[in-house]
Amino acid sequence: NKGKYEHYMQKEIHEQPESLTTTMRGRLIRGGSSKAKSVLLGGLKDHLKTIRRSRRIVVIGCGTSYNASLAARPILEELSGIPVTMEIASDLLDRQGPVYREDTAVFVSQSGETADTLRALEYALENGALCVGITNTVSSAIARKTDCGVHINAGCEIGVASTKAYTSQIVVMAMLALAIGGDTISSQARRAAVIDGLFQLPSKVKEVLKLDQEMKDLAKLLIAEQSLLMFGRGYNYATALEGALKVKEVALMHSEGILAGEMKHGPLALVDENLPIVVIATRDACFSKQQSVIQQLHARKGRLIVICTKGDAASVCVGGSCRVIEVPQVEDCLQPVINIVPLQLLAYHLTVLRGHNVDQPRNLAKSVTTE
Ligand code: F6R
Repeated sequence: NKGKYEHYMQKEIHEQPESLTTTMRGRLIRGGSSKAKSVLLGGLKDHLKTIRRSRRIVVIGCGTSYNASLAARPILEELSGIPVTMEIASDLLDRQGPVYREDTAVFVSQSGETADTLRALEYALENGALCVGITNTVSSAIARKTDCGVHINAGCEIGVASTKAYTSQIVVMAMLALAIGGDTISSQARRAAVIDGLFQLPSKVKEVLKLDQEMKDLAKLLIAEQSLLMFGRGYNYATALEGALKVKEVALMHSEGILAGEMKHGPLALVDENLPIVVIATRDACFSKQQSVIQQLHARKGRLIVICTKGDAASVCVGGSCRVIEVPQVEDCLQPVINIVPLQLLAYHLTVLRGHNVDQPRNLAKSVTTE
């Protein structure tokens, strides 16, 4: 049931304040006079000790689920203190990459049925790793075959393009990071800020959804483009990859997410006065580096669309003209949850304006059950 919406993708984008609330429900303790701020993931509690002792955490997924893992990687590394590596499921299998008993392997999948991810899970089980599932489908194959796990509780996702599952996956992995990380004195302030940030997310997502009309107007300008680049780094490298994936899979427009740090190592050659480029430049430790990326793109007359923190329009757009999209600020590691929303809206409106099928893009299936 699409309710007041025209498409499932649209409904699922707008549902995110609620889906994020259900993802967190009963799992986060706000803290108060007698209780400390903390996180409770029932499905993991008997395995946390083993996870904390692991030599490496390897996170495995495909497509959007891989991107969500990449978005959460920095906070997972920071709070756990354990090296975190990332694997696209098919690539791990193609290489038969090393997986050890001392590893914790985390499988991220909305459907819980993706063939590549499932094969990678069987492979990791054979190699003796502790296997954790993060899925949106309770009795799915991945949920059943993993040693333990966390359900993302985002609610049924029908649109082929994953939207609300993406943001809920990031939130679950941020909670996983809190659960694995010890409550040491040195990490207390950061942990408290992340927990407070999680509580604020639904209302901040509600706020960023108000950009709907602005993103529709932007889509009108981009309707006839051949290609759209997206530059991100740090916490928002994943946002660039995921934004580009949304645009290509539903709007059927070529789009590429690029790690901004790699700009001079090739992609800069593409920049001219015609090619539209989205730059994600919200406030975090990488902000000044992104400002200089913007200046260099300006110097090549790049057509820029900059996503920045509210109030930063003047400081991101020096040395040229650009279209600015201002978003609310949250704790840096959670900013990807906010930043993806305007790009989901852009992909949605581009698709409708270009006359393509939003909920069932050609050639794609919701659940990819063959390798
Ligand atoms: C993109 C998309 C796909 C899936 C991928 C993995 O919008 O939906 O890239 O993310 O096929 O699917 P799950 O998460 O079900 O394993």
